[in-house]
Amino acid sequence: MYFFKELFTPYETQIKNTALDIIKSDRKIFRRESGKTANALDFSLLKARMPEIVDAYSHYGLKCEKAVAFVMYRRDDLKLHVDHDPLYSHGRVLLPIYNCQGTYTNFYSGCKVIMSEDDELRKKYTFRSQETQGRPFYAIEDPQNCVLAQQIELKQSTLINIRAPHDVTLPPGFTGPRVVLGLMFDRDPIFLFEQ
Ligand SMILES: [Fe+2]
Repeated sequence: MYFFKELFTPYETQIKNTALDIIKSDRKIFRRESGKTANALDFSLLKARMPEIVDAYSHYGLKCEKAVAFVMYRRDDLKLHVDHDPLYSHGRVLLPIYNCQGTYTNFYSGCKVIMSEDDELRKKYTFRSQETQGRPFYAIEDPQNCVLAQQIELKQSTLINIRAPHDVTLPPGFTGPRVVLGLMFDRDPIFLFEQ
């Protein structure tokens, strides 16, 4: 299974600076007042501030359509999980925005992933319980069997396989916040693993 692949965009620094500016100005996101780790960014605002974002990955055949901010202060903010995204089902491009040094995105294998629609299981297994209400999600049936397969300290745009069980670890004494930008496109970027 592919877990991650580092990508390149000439607009990396510009995307980081613009996104951080927008995220920092929103306490719901930056201070987690929304209570959520993942918050969609206003893409029309991002696009207005930085029109280049739409075609920043066009050399990979991708058109950017959506952005999400992931903000963590504690390890528990992002539990071990498998994403279920009906639109962008396998791949997501992540950009380290703030305080990512020394933090790791970990990928696991060896455990059993099941699809469920059970609301009790949802509370137990997903960190976006409100948003995924009524939709199917993936649960890891036997987390004790998950074995660390690979890990990455995000340093540049990185495609990750969100269908692999994953979590994020923070260094000791971390006070945060760790901010990562997730980008979604007009097609699932998972095909880039084969190139
Ligand atoms: Fe995820």
